Amino acid sequence: MMDKFPLEPIEKASVDELRGLQLKRLRQTLAHAYANSPVYRAKFDAAGVHPDDCRSLEDLASFPFTTKADLRDSYPFGMFAVPRSQCVRIHASSGTTGKPTVVGYTAGDIETWAKLVARSIRASGARPGDLVHVSYGYGLFTGGLGAHYGAEKLGLTVVPFGGGQTERQVQLIADFRPDIIMVTPSYMLAIADEFERQGLDPRESSLRIGIFGAEPWTNDMRLQIEQRMGIDAVDIYGLSEVMGPGVANECVETKDGPTIWEDHFYPEIIDPETGRVLPDGEPGELVFTSLTKEALPVIRYRTRDLTRLLPGTARTMRRMEKITGRSDDMMIVRGVNVFPTQIEELICQRAALAPHYQCVLTREGPLDCLTVVVEARAGLTPDSDEARADAERLVHDVKTYVGTSIRVELRPAGGVERSMGKAKRVVDQRR
Ligand code: DLL
Repeated sequence: MMDKFPLEPIEKASVDELRGLQLKRLRQTLAHAYANSPVYRAKFDAAGVHPDDCRSLEDLASFPFTTKADLRDSYPFGMFAVPRSQCVRIHASSGTTGKPTVVGYTAGDIETWAKLVARSIRASGARPGDLVHVSYGYGLFTGGLGAHYGAEKLGLTVVPFGGGQTERQVQLIADFRPDIIMVTPSYMLAIADEFERQGLDPRESSLRIGIFGAEPWTNDMRLQIEQRMGIDAVDIYGLSEVMGPGVANECVETKDGPTIWEDHFYPEIIDPETGRVLPDGEPGELVFTSLTKEALPVIRYRTRDLTRLLPGTARTMRRMEKITGRSDDMMIVRGVNVFPTQIEELICQRAALAPHYQCVLTREGPLDCLTVVVEARAGLTPDSDEARADAERLVHDVKTYVGTSIRVELRPAGGVERSMGKAKRVVDQRR
């Protein structure tokens, strides 16, 4: 039978065809960056490389990396490769310190982005005519508008709710009966809690698919969300410097890590210490080079996200393993490297604990202390035998599987700060 919503030809292209397209676009991108962005020209000149030196995809490795610092140093528009007047949109991501990172889009960039988000939403299992509730924040954050344009492009009906007002989110989901929700996984849990507070069973909602991203979340969290909501939960990845949501997206039929839309973004994995390119399959830092961006081409942008490249399954294009963490989120506790996702996995395995948690770092004398603040499951008090037994078990499991000693502070349901967007998993009180 004819598929009424066929894949784009490039999603099924052979690897050779894909590599050929990538090389052609890579050379164009390097030439465009060198010719039109003084920052890139200076960086290439300093490294002694010229766009003409790139004759194969491997040659990219001789070009310099781009970092958040490059964007900060040229704040706000200094790295753009087109005049600001040719940009139809600006977004910005608030850093932890100082000035935001600013990105710009031409009309062509917005069109490409919308197409890639449409491709992502389709890969998640949505079809034209579906109704989508968008709870990613609208505004300078790329989540809301990025999701919105892509959903419209695919032919969905969009409810542009944005973040916050959790009570009303639930009311509108109950009344409008959306098929799909796009939201951070942590805020999905808060919405699920609100369903229950209003006496509604989230499994009975109309939702069929959740497209979750903007923060790390584990496969254990996926199971929790799927069971609680009665939906398919798929992973959408992206970052504002590279575009926004839709750089990569999981295919619902495999749910085995986001497929990177390699016709527009060339991925590399590097050793974060030495910068050396690592072979597919090895874990390291993800680096992206844009292949079609006009306003702000990014050449070897260091994402700080840690993952591996995996062969394609549902598509020819390669996948990335679900992000284990950002190097920024890594905690070093008495010499042991710990990521919040490692704690999350273990919390999800304890029936008396709810997956609302924060990792609080303090210093006692010369020693770092990690306290995991976590909620008891709704209906249980923190001093119930079940919750206390699971808290003890968590201490034991973290010691065994992660290799560090922690304390667990149990809170009642609702006792851990909720975010309306990206959850804050690490609270560093050492300074
Ligand atoms: O978070 C873009 C986005 C919006 C992606 C909505 C998906 C959905 P930034 O604010 O620039 O952009 O943050 C980018 O968020 O480098 C990762 O560390 C993290 N991140 C994004 N998606 C995922 C994901 C948006 N699916 C940073 N899994 C990235 C893990 C993610 N981490």
